[in-house]
Amino acid sequence: MANSHSDISARYDGRGRFVPPHAKPLSGREGFFKRTWTFLRNPIEGFGPMVYNQPIVSVPNFGKKLHVISDPEGMMAVLAKEANKFTKTAIDARILGPATKEGLLSVHGEQWKRQRKSVAPLFRKRHMEDLAPLITEVLHSFCKKVNAEPELDLNAAMAELTFDVLARALLGDPKGLDKDRLKFATRNVVTSAGTLRPDDLIPWPRWVPRPITPKGSAALRRLKRAADGLLAERTKHPVEDDLISLLIAAKDPKTGEGLSAREQGDNIIGFFIAGHETTALTLTWALFLVGSHAETARRIRDEVLSVCGEGDVLFDHIEKLTFTQAVIDETMRLYPPAPMLNRECHEETEIHGRKIEAGDTFLLCNYVMHRTERLWDNPLTFDPDRFLRNPSLKSKGSAFMPFGAGPRICVGAAFATMEAVMALATLVRDYEIELPGDCYPRPLMTVTLRPEGGIPARLIKRT
Ligand code: HEM
Repeated sequence: MANSHSDISARYDGRGRFVPPHAKPLSGREGFFKRTWTFLRNPIEGFGPMVYNQPIVSVPNFGKKLHVISDPEGMMAVLAKEANKFTKTAIDARILGPATKEGLLSVHGEQWKRQRKSVAPLFRKRHMEDLAPLITEVLHSFCKKVNAEPELDLNAAMAELTFDVLARALLGDPKGLDKDRLKFATRNVVTSAGTLRPDDLIPWPRWVPRPITPKGSAALRRLKRAADGLLAERTKHPVEDDLISLLIAAKDPKTGEGLSAREQGDNIIGFFIAGHETTALTLTWALFLVGSHAETARRIRDEVLSVCGEGDVLFDHIEKLTFTQAVIDETMRLYPPAPMLNRECHEETEIHGRKIEAGDTFLLCNYVMHRTERLWDNPLTFDPDRFLRNPSLKSKGSAFMPFGAGPRICVGAAFATMEAVMALATLVRDYEIELPGDCYPRPLMTVTLRPEGGIPARLIKRT
């Protein structure tokens, strides 16, 4: 039983520690076509030893260079220190543009600054505290459904749960909203936009539209109509406790300027796209890890019982659930839901002593950084305690960046973390997670990092 990047099928290392599934790296001997094909099929399998061993690897790319970064210094240079010299790449714009062109996820420059200032306060602690009881409500209905139907696919079930949480937190409970249609449309948009295709490797100008399937474009129209309808409803009948009302009222603290109707609509869609699949995948992989490791399940359960007893997991409990939080952190280290970010350089600079020219592109690979031997002890091993032994692993500029870094760091990180801890704590305390004996899913990157083929499970209510 080994624990190295070359032996990726061993489930335990030489000391009996659990080694969860790892994307098979290239050997470094493959030719151009094999490398490109592997990258398109599963981008995180498209890297060889050089990317795992060097902080920056540069390759020619249509007359410019493509740089792959997998260390904190390089990431911080691109995402934070030199952030004003970079934008997201055209491929990001082509994938996200049709759904959320004017939203925070896609805009740049002054428009981004103004939106970020207006949107960031929605996710402050004060609002998180108000939103926590809504998560509890959704968890109650989710558990009722699970009690009736304990056999489920973890990925689908968690997508359902996190969608319902976002719908409740973002939308309140608007009358006349067909939530199932909205959910279906969002899933279709995420699935059709979130799959890389060969033409995505061509450096098309930003204005060239990315063809969408008829199903994808119908889903997109439905989603836009739903967002516009909700905004119109909320503008007429404002309520206090949901994020849409806060978004409508949001103003740049300095100028007092609000968001346009298009910006508001695109941000609602952006929150659904950025917020539900990512959190769902964190919970899916966390339940897989906990279901594969009885000792971790027991420790979470003991912790939750001692902090919350048999009752609801409340906002005030969250910071006391330190081990549960460490399991979420270790899950996002091993399976960062957004495993690769991208940037395009617009002004000459230097990174890791290498000259970077305008037009060069970057792949910022946190999946690789999170599993690099020179940055982590036993990187392939599941060890949540590493975050308790060494809290600086989560400090700014460290090798742990599931939410990105710098000014464009995930605006919803506090909300996602709160939701993930509350859901994991509740589910692991109240259910035994039974997985098939051979369950060892390959991590597959589309735009997010999913378990290939899903994860069938039984959640058995503890009595
Ligand atoms: C575990 C869950 C989540 C993960 C791992 C995650 C990850 C990320 C990452 C890595 C970025 C930076 C992208 C880049 O720099 O290119 C980002 C940005 C963003 N995320 Fe999240 N996210 C999560 C949950 C959420 C939630 C719940 C929301 C909202 C409800 C959200 C909304 C956004 C938005 C609007 C941005 C763009 C911010 C900007 O450009 O200023 N995310 N997210």
